[in-house]
Amino acid sequence: MAQYRIEKHPILSIPVRKEIQFTWQGQNLIAKEGETIAAALFANGIHVFGHHPKDGSPLGIFCANGQCSQCMVIADGNPVKACMEQIAAGMQIQPNEGLPALPAVVQPPRLEPIAEVKTTVLIIGGGPAGLSAAIELGKLGVQVLLVDDKSRLGGKLVLQTHRFFGSMKAVYAGTRGIDIATRLENEVRRYPSVEIWTKSTCLAVFSDKKVGILRGGTAYTLVTPEVILIASGAREKFLAFKGNTLPGVYGAGAFQTLVNRDLVRPAEKLFIVGGGNVGLIAGYHALQAEIGVVGLIEALPECGGYKVHKDKLMRMGVPIYTSHTILSANGTDKVESVTIAQVDSAFKPIPGTEKSFACDAILIAVGLDPVDEFYQKAKEFSIPAFVAGDAEEIAEASSAIFTGKIRGLEIAHTLGRSASEVPPAWARTSAILKSRPGPVYAEQHPDLNEGVMPVFHCNQEIPCNPCSGLCPNGLIVVDQKDIRDIPTFIGNNYSCQVCERCVAGCPGLAITLVDYRANPEMPLVSIPYEFSRELLNKKDLVTVLGTEGQTLGSLEIVDLHTIPDSDRTMIAVVASPLAIATAIAGIRIQETPITQPMRQYVHHVADDTIVCRCEHVTAGEIRSLIRQGYRDMNEIKTVTRACMGACGAKTCASLIHRLFREENVPINEVTDPSKRPIFMEVPLGLFAGETKKETHS
Ligand code: FES
Ligand code: FES
Repeated sequence: MAQYRIEKHPILSIPVRKEIQFTWQGQNLIAKEGETIAAALFANGIHVFGHHPKDGSPLGIFCANGQCSQCMVIADGNPVKACMEQIAAGMQIQPNEGLPALPAVVQPPRLEPIAEVKTTVLIIGGGPAGLSAAIELGKLGVQVLLVDDKSRLGGKLVLQTHRFFGSMKAVYAGTRGIDIATRLENEVRRYPSVEIWTKSTCLAVFSDKKVGILRGGTAYTLVTPEVILIASGAREKFLAFKGNTLPGVYGAGAFQTLVNRDLVRPAEKLFIVGGGNVGLIAGYHALQAEIGVVGLIEALPECGGYKVHKDKLMRMGVPIYTSHTILSANGTDKVESVTIAQVDSAFKPIPGTEKSFACDAILIAVGLDPVDEFYQKAKEFSIPAFVAGDAEEIAEASSAIFTGKIRGLEIAHTLGRSASEVPPAWARTSAILKSRPGPVYAEQHPDLNEGVMPVFHCNQEIPCNPCSGLCPNGLIVVDQKDIRDIPTFIGNNYSCQVCERCVAGCPGLAITLVDYRANPEMPLVSIPYEFSRELLNKKDLVTVLGTEGQTLGSLEIVDLHTIPDSDRTMIAVVASPLAIATAIAGIRIQETPITQPMRQYVHHVADDTIVCRCEHVTAGEIRSLIRQGYRDMNEIKTVTRACMGACGAKTCASLIHRLFREENVPINEVTDPSKRPIFMEVPLGLFAGETKKETHS
């Protein structure tokens, strides 16, 4: 069914893939070769993959990353994670109703010795930090084994269609995330001392200093490194609210995976919870995939992400509600609406402020936690260990690229393979790239009406400098010692050559060019445009907006073009009355009716809020134990099964911490659940040397 597939995209190319047949509940359906079972089901409009064994509630995609097991289906008789398993021609797929039966054992498994390898440096994670470290070590000829659980290197970079912020010189700022991934991968593959295992999941770090890796997804292998670098990234935080397990509630990473990797449209109308960079960027990605964004809420009085990301979304016509929280996801089998409310200064919902909006997906982007369990174990077992990127500290991917580079040099120095220590300038660049968004200044517009001038709609200090490298005459200046500086134009109104490279290349889409030369009363305004070419044509009337989405008027598109090297960003030109020309920052993409609240807000009828989504344990059950004096999460696990599910407490442990806080229990009185290897689900037979094909669970 074509409408569920993304068949055109302003940034991503759509590969031509062979169609294959499979069955779902006995019905013949079409998939594309090479896609996951989940993508094939979504492409056919199927979102409910099974029902929970405890309460029969519907289950579907949640993480799209193999972490949560909510997407389990039965494929040719075997339980598999639909988000990880590739579909095959003729595959017979059934929903997973309750607990799946174990596959039959046809004959006793053949046991083989476990393969063992040694390496100088083992890097866990082939995202921006791991790749950069491997490049640094590869340059010095240090033997490295880099393992990553995906089939493609790049980590979350491969989902990012937007241009990156940061420093052009240090971390490829101004280049799209997907293209940075390709550049890093190409570079690392040039170094013969770096061996790469993709589709290889790290399962555990053991006390005998060996690391268990599921090599290529099929063969269990023990690796003994001299030094280990953990660059395993971050996992998304979850939120407790009514209806939070309904299919259609996704983590932001899952949504980006479905849209930007799998090229399926998981929703028509999306609601976003969380105003950090992840939520803001995901909203932009949804609009590029022609998914309507109903609104975005943030519990704090201001969004935590970059103002340019927030402004961009508001200019697209997405309403942003700060000081708001989600009360419930509503629906029977999947999300049909969301109910939100305003919060007071203690983040408590204010009665009477509830609103509901129709939507079919809710994206949760409320922060990230480092995936650092391998690092903790390595330290515990005295393996020389380093950590980089989000596994060390949550920050932008540009910062992960740079910390990876630093760790690479530090490791080489530790091994005696490099005489140089990390230059102090690198440490300073790293600190700048990690920095939180700074102060916001009043926007300055040039008070001129002749010649040509760029106008900056970027008025918050953030680490970003591509504009300064784009002007061929060097007329845009950002302090290179501290690239958080606001850009300034040092030319006059006759020095700009109107190349429009700054308009096309600003990652925040926050530069316009105002050209008074032909008609000073009706100057031409060049505006960056990154949506489908078919949505905009010459002579179309568009709503032009100010930096923060204020409506300025309705104007005609007089030109739509690209420039050399504009890398898929188009430039729309409007002829504007003089009074508003410098204020115009964008064109509305999404008209407002999508945002109207329903006539009455929806009361969700679920019994209680689920905290442990694997085992469907409610907040009420856990709260009651806390009130009885339970302080050890291992005991809570024993009594309720919370933290005992397929995700290994990765989703619910932080929510249970939060319940302790709400009950005013000091965190030092709480005992965390014991973390025991292994950290990922894996068929047990693999530890006895079976290969996956013949594995019996
Ligand atoms: S959605 Fe497949 S494992 Fe989480
Ligand atoms: S949510 Fe997975 S164990 Fe609780």
